[in-house]
Amino acid sequence: MTDLRPLLRELPVFAGATPDFDVAAVPAEPVGLFRAWLLEAIRAGVPEPHAMTLATTDADGLPSARVLILKDVLGPDDGGPGWQFAVHAASPKGRDLAARPYAALTFHWPALARQIRLRGPVVPADAEASAEDFRARGLPARAEALLGRQSTPLTDQAGRDRDLAAARERLDRDPAAVAEAWTLCTLRPERVEFWQGRKDRDHVRLAYDRDGTAWRTERLWP
Ligand SMILES: Cc1cc2nc3c(=O)[nH]c(=O)nc-3n(C[C@H](O)[C@H](O)[C@H](O)COP(=O)(O)O)c2cc1C
Repeated sequence: MTDLRPLLRELPVFAGATPDFDVAAVPAEPVGLFRAWLLEAIRAGVPEPHAMTLATTDADGLPSARVLILKDVLGPDDGGPGWQFAVHAASPKGRDLAARPYAALTFHWPALARQIRLRGPVVPADAEASAEDFRARGLPARAEALLGRQSTPLTDQAGRDRDLAAARERLDRDPAAVAEAWTLCTLRPERVEFWQGRKDRDHVRLAYDRDGTAWRTERLWP
């Protein structure tokens, strides 16, 4: 046992609000409930509620997870259901998704003791939609993506500084320039689980499973 163990044991969990979750009052599909919970998280001041963990697997089935920003959530009227994020195709996650276009997403909003988990196939958007997403990003993010070196070993800081400055100059000259490998992706969930923590540990869980164009719901043991 290390000295971390007692420290970890003493840390509070589910310390914030634990709103009631009336599973009898949920919509027939999960996007409406997700949007309602996201808006509540924003109103509750959850820091960066649009940050989510994206888990992928590589061609050998080895998993990786990392945090990404949620770009949009498509409902039934927007061609959904679909949760959108963007990746550089040459990054490890981009390569994972090319090899195995299936992923999981997890949101955690501690101020409300809430977790949402999804999994399903991931579909790349067309070049125009990806370019539009790219152009909406800030200059530093676009310059970085133009380099296309994310997650490769950094062995030459001076070379990186030079390349980054050149990418920024290129964007100054041509603000509409796009990294062609930038890819807007849509995860089309087959399963979405809403998890509401409770201080007494009688957590309330509800899973939506896709059944053709409809959804089945079931409660899960905590
Ligand atoms: C709050 C937060 C938001 C992030 N948002 C993004 C993002 O939108 N896109 C991105 O490529 N990386 C983002 N990152 C960095 C990724 O977690 C990751 O380090 C990077 O994408 C490389 O992942 P990969 O090597 O698995 O491809 C974010 C990290 C944090 C902590």
